[in-house]
Amino acid sequence: MSKICVIGTGYVGLVTGTCFADLGNEVHCLDIDHQRIEKLKQGIMPIYEPGLEQLVSQNVKAGRLIFTTNYEEALESAEFAFIAVGTPSGVDGEADLQYVRAAAEKIADLVDHPIIVVNKSTVPVGTGDWVADIIRKRRAGKPLDFDVVSNPEFLREGSAINDFMYPDRIVLGSVNREAASKVAQLYLSLRCPIMITDLRTAEMIKYASNAFLATKISFINEMANICEELGADVRQVAQGMGMDKRIGHAFLDAGLGWGGSCFPKDVKALAHMAVLHGTSPQLLQAVMDINRNQRRRVVLRLRKALGSLDEKVIGVLGLSFKPNTDDIREAPALEVIHLLQVEGAIVKAYDPQAMEAARTMLPKVHLCSNPYEVADGADALVLATEWNEFKQLDFERIAGLMRNKLIMDGRNLWDPERLRQYGFTYYGIGRPS
Ligand code: NAD
Ligand code: UGA
Repeated sequence: MSKICVIGTGYVGLVTGTCFADLGNEVHCLDIDHQRIEKLKQGIMPIYEPGLEQLVSQNVKAGRLIFTTNYEEALESAEFAFIAVGTPSGVDGEADLQYVRAAAEKIADLVDHPIIVVNKSTVPVGTGDWVADIIRKRRAGKPLDFDVVSNPEFLREGSAINDFMYPDRIVLGSVNREAASKVAQLYLSLRCPIMITDLRTAEMIKYASNAFLATKISFINEMANICEELGADVRQVAQGMGMDKRIGHAFLDAGLGWGGSCFPKDVKALAHMAVLHGTSPQLLQAVMDINRNQRRRVVLRLRKALGSLDEKVIGVLGLSFKPNTDDIREAPALEVIHLLQVEGAIVKAYDPQAMEAARTMLPKVHLCSNPYEVADGADALVLATEWNEFKQLDFERIAGLMRNKLIMDGRNLWDPERLRQYGFTYYGIGRPS
């Protein structure tokens, strides 16, 4: 059993802290957001993540998981301080490290025992050294016995607990191999490959992994656009490609492109780092351009089909950036909605979990309580997120409700033939229309 402090109780910090507690450690999850911590103490989750509420409750009851806003309490005798604060996009796409700095400064100011600082946030290459410098400088008169280990996180929202508990690999980077080995001990019971490397390489592995996954998606989206012109079906193309083990099936679903709190900011941050150090990241630029264009193409197709979008009622199904999360940060739906509104369209929308977030982020969208309300009087329906509950809609009812039976299936969720039987004009992504 180890004593762990997790700084930042967001998607990553809360899942990491809860899972470490479940593995038998004593974990203090700390956040500067008092409201978030108060709610967590009452058992109210600040995010929607399948299985999380129950796991939190079990570990709180067992006394292994404690939520706090008090740094002194959380860091007291902690052997490990995991930094899991946000690293959003700043100027020119550079990662904003103000929250990481604040966490490092608190550790420097409050800790008086040996500690391993573990960087779980996604941070630019060199940040581990920078964090060590911050701590060293602040403790100039009274040196602290500490090490910094980079431990990038690879979990996905929507399947975060499973991803944490059954990881493909754990990556650890440090100038001190012994410190990295101590962090490795925390993961031993997961029985997965553990790679120990240097700090900068570990930090780079995280960016390279996210950029590669984003590249796969942009690649298949480019293929989809070519398929549309040539009369091929990108879903089958992806299937045929994926059977080659060197390619694999994952991340070859064509659609509205990648969104979320990570791919967009991480690809941008990596490109920024590259430019800053004199290389020209042409592939990364193309990957981002294709992604942006993917949203525009949908709006162009709708405009072409409807003549003009001015005063047309467009229904959007799904707002979160992917299913099984309430996270709408950089969701493709947001960009599509923005482009539709710029063209004068009236937008209605529904999402199974993201309505609360949508209320503040999308004040000009008419939010509905179910898919049928969205369809009522609509000139077109756009599927932006492939939630399970959208798989089996009553299309006969929807056909009766819509003003114009046009469907833009942005995630290739539905069977075109079936929809055509109900009289819909169906557009998918990269499928013959
Ligand atoms: P988030 O925005 O959900 O949570 C960050 C939390 O940190 C917030 O609750 C905030 O109040 C808190 N915080 C900010 N400054 C603080 C401070 N000084 N002390 C204590 N708490 C503080 O962010 P997230 O999505 O969990 O991402 C965190 C990091 O992990 C990012 O670098 C991200 O790129 C990376 N990451 C995220 C995911 C994901 O799926 N969301 C996956 C892998 C890696
Ligand atoms: C992604 C990575 O998959 C995680 O490994 C990583 O830890 C995380 O980013 C991070 O660094 O934050 P996440 O953003 O939660 O995880 O979700 P993904 O499942 O990767 O989906 C990202 C986006 O790509 C979504 O908008 C999704 O709809 C889109 N996507 C995904 C596609 O368009 N096609 C695909 O085939 C797969």
